[in-house]
Amino acid sequence: MNTSISGFSKLSKSEKINWIVDTYFSNKEQAKKILTQYWNSDNKLQQLHDEFIENTITNYYLPLGVAPNFLINGKLHTIPMAIEESSVVAAASKAAKFWLDRGGFKATVLSTTKIGQVHFMFHGQPKKLEAYFKSVKNRLIADAKSITQNMEKRGGGILDIELRNKTEKLSGYYQLHATFETLDAMGANFINSCLEQFATTFKQEALRFKDFTDTEKQIEIVMSILSNYVPNCLVRAEVSCPVSDLSDNKNSHPEAFAQKFVQAVNIAEVEPYRAVTHNKGIMNGIDAVVLATGNDFRAVEAGVHAYASRNGTYSSLTHAKIENGIFTFWMEIPLALGTVGGLTGLHPLVKFALELLHKPSAKELMQIVAVAGLAQNFAALRSLTTTGIQEGHMKMHLMNILNQFDATTEEKAHIINHFKTHVVTHRAVVEAIDNLRK
Ligand code: HMG
Repeated sequence: MNTSISGFSKLSKSEKINWIVDTYFSNKEQAKKILTQYWNSDNKLQQLHDEFIENTITNYYLPLGVAPNFLINGKLHTIPMAIEESSVVAAASKAAKFWLDRGGFKATVLSTTKIGQVHFMFHGQPKKLEAYFKSVKNRLIADAKSITQNMEKRGGGILDIELRNKTEKLSGYYQLHATFETLDAMGANFINSCLEQFATTFKQEALRFKDFTDTEKQIEIVMSILSNYVPNCLVRAEVSCPVSDLSDNKNSHPEAFAQKFVQAVNIAEVEPYRAVTHNKGIMNGIDAVVLATGNDFRAVEAGVHAYASRNGTYSSLTHAKIENGIFTFWMEIPLALGTVGGLTGLHPLVKFALELLHKPSAKELMQIVAVAGLAQNFAALRSLTTTGIQEGHMKMHLMNILNQFDATTEEKAHIINHFKTHVVTHRAVVEAIDNLRK
């Protein structure tokens, strides 16, 4: 159907819904019911959700689960995870429980620098631009004072501004490359406000720089925006134990397990097709905690994958080794997260998640999120290199299949019991339902 509309954004919520169901749905009442059944009966709470974004018509639920028993730097955490995929929370929980008895996870924040850039065009002598930049740099920082003063009082602010010549890549292209410390805030608004002020000052002051010709005075600002690539906002998460301690009731050959595990990581280090899936498994854990704590998972995803390609080939984010009988598994990833600002003070479930995590600082949250990613990867690799992924994944997915077939509570109980001793496949579940209903 090819239907456009002008002024949609100005319609009320119910007018928007009416237009949608009238335009796209044959069973209009049913379509409306689907939307309205997700409205919250608490009008204030519903209004809060309506106002998070634009053209809101309903709420889109994701389950919020928790993975207990995460021992991180000696402190126990129950980690909140918002995710739609079955077996992720179970896998995280299982990995947490496994490492709980083996010293837990160690996590360290290596750096916290964020980046923003003013991209501009200048078609004059580079030397003169450098001289102009030197003369105006302090003014750039001074003019942003009203934006930075509160952040500075807390110990953060602008770290530096550099002029970068990018003309070898694109004719006339330069940058003001700025670095920031934004403490517990993710810092996107702070950084973007600073950058836009830099751009204004930089353009205005150029008009007064006496060594510029009239053409050189016309610096063309293209855009001012933070970068979601934050290779200097890094956190490391690690687990390690003697190889012999890797055994448990399902794994009686710890040496063979450790070797195969390291091989699996090595494969992801050299083979991009495998690395993408390997890292996707890591992001299962990372995104789920990032989302539960109200952070920007698109920013995290973009930055993490860029980091995975930093040496020119897409590669594994995790690494593993066996040295002197010690198994070590670790990861370093860039994470720009906030525990103040944005949704953190607004969304009731985000507030809940942060309180569950003992109200962490941004640095502590970086550690928790990295650990969730490492745990997820450990669980997936452990399954992949032993039973295969389907056994555990399908065991967890069983409920989804039963729900697809509208199984009753009694049917569910019966079939779950049956699959305690049988391998779950989609076909086997369908057969079991059919047999039960015959
Ligand atoms: P299991 O050994 O059958 O579980 O593992 P269990 O019933 O023996 O229980 C052991 C523990 O696992 C439990 O301890 C829980 O911690 C956890 P307890 O709570 O009993 O003290 N656990 C659960 N937690 C919550 N709800 C549950 C539940 N069941 C167990 N229902 C498990 C089953 C699925 C955990 C295991 O097979 C596993 O870790 N599999 C890996 C699953 C996975 O990685 N899923 C992600 C989706 S697949 C994917 O997208 C990524 C991938 O492609 C990445 C890659 O290729 O690298 C795989």
